Amino acid sequence: MKLTCVSCPLEYDADANRTRCDCGDLLDVALNSTNSVNSEVFDRRMNSWSTPDSSGVWRYRELLPEFDQQHIVSKPEGNTNLYDAPQIAAWAGVDQLWLKHEGENPTGSFKDRGMTVATSHAMRTGATMVACASTGNTSASVASYAAAAGVPSVVFVPDGKISAAKLGQTVAYGARIIQVRGDFDAAMTLVQQASQELGIYLLNSINPYRLEGQKTILFELLHQLQWRCPDWVILPGGNLGNSSAIGKGLAELKSSGMLTKIPRMAVIQAAGASPFYEAYRSSFRGFEPMEARTVATAIQIGNPVSYTKARRAIELTDGVVEAVSDEEILDAKARVDQTGIGCEPASAATVAGLHKLVRTGVISPGDRVAGILTGHLMKDAESVMEYHLGTGSERRPLAKQPVVIDPTLEALRSVLTHEF
Ligand code: F0G
Repeated sequence: MKLTCVSCPLEYDADANRTRCDCGDLLDVALNSTNSVNSEVFDRRMNSWSTPDSSGVWRYRELLPEFDQQHIVSKPEGNTNLYDAPQIAAWAGVDQLWLKHEGENPTGSFKDRGMTVATSHAMRTGATMVACASTGNTSASVASYAAAAGVPSVVFVPDGKISAAKLGQTVAYGARIIQVRGDFDAAMTLVQQASQELGIYLLNSINPYRLEGQKTILFELLHQLQWRCPDWVILPGGNLGNSSAIGKGLAELKSSGMLTKIPRMAVIQAAGASPFYEAYRSSFRGFEPMEARTVATAIQIGNPVSYTKARRAIELTDGVVEAVSDEEILDAKARVDQTGIGCEPASAATVAGLHKLVRTGVISPGDRVAGILTGHLMKDAESVMEYHLGTGSERRPLAKQPVVIDPTLEALRSVLTHEF
């Protein structure tokens, strides 16, 4: 196992405490390719109650970095549901849609899959403090895994730009919180400097070990489909760690012989935070960071650190990048919520994006589609209240306002007759 640069031939020791190559580009974890991969072994581990087999990450350990059991910090994560979503499929215009709900991880987002691997690596390298910049989910996950590992954590969040639930969750797990006057991108720059200058272990997805864990969203999804590949995998794009991880996972599964074909990937950005979409539209001829603004605060990111790797993933999978408006995101979220599945706004970009890609003919009605929901509904109650109870001039199409009545049967009867 070693670290290799994505764009030049330089290589580093697997435990070199660095997230970038000397050339400035990103690093990959290059695994030992001698492990044989066997779906029956994965099936067998599903019956175990003990870690690491019971973890939906470490179950796939032949496809992950190898660590001693003593260093593994697992809650255990993963094991998230894959929902058949026929109502949303019908609305979007496809015959088959599955939604993999990564909000069902221990801290309510997919970040836990990356965090178990990266925190375990931090333990292996003897880290005494861990840090991240975050729009809220990474910080909650870092705080929780650091608490489990018994190391202090410090998180940098853009002041006033993350949901109350995520901030509260992060405080509750015991992290030191630094609220940065600026946006996520400013917090990200600061944490990278802090990690380099102060020797703090960095747990953002620029850390290639994070992406190793996040590959398992794909592994578990395919396992749940009995390794029959969907035609499309759709997911939201913010800092672009997940898109990068899924691309790497697909490449590795293909070379292990587990897959004969690979799905196409569709990465969906919020229109107000869409530098990757703009780069894709210019056939990746250039990349321009932007000032990001969207209601989907989790993906309010204008300068995604994993751009090079995500681009590689799009090229590998013959993928596409799409952008959707805040209104499309919020209406798609209400639709996911009203099927009883529920998700946070950023996750609903997946569903809004699917709808748009079917309308534009990129995805065909007969395609089998798997969408990733990245975070739990309860991560952002403000957006739910704003959608359903908001005082905005225009009522959203799926809004359902509670009614207030006197405690009498007549009042109830009147409401049930006239308002429902
Ligand atoms: N969905 C949710 C719910 C997220 O929290 C994030 C990222 C994304 C999608 C985008 O994923 O960055 O891999 O492209 N949240 C980070 C955070 C940035 O700090 O919690 P990505």
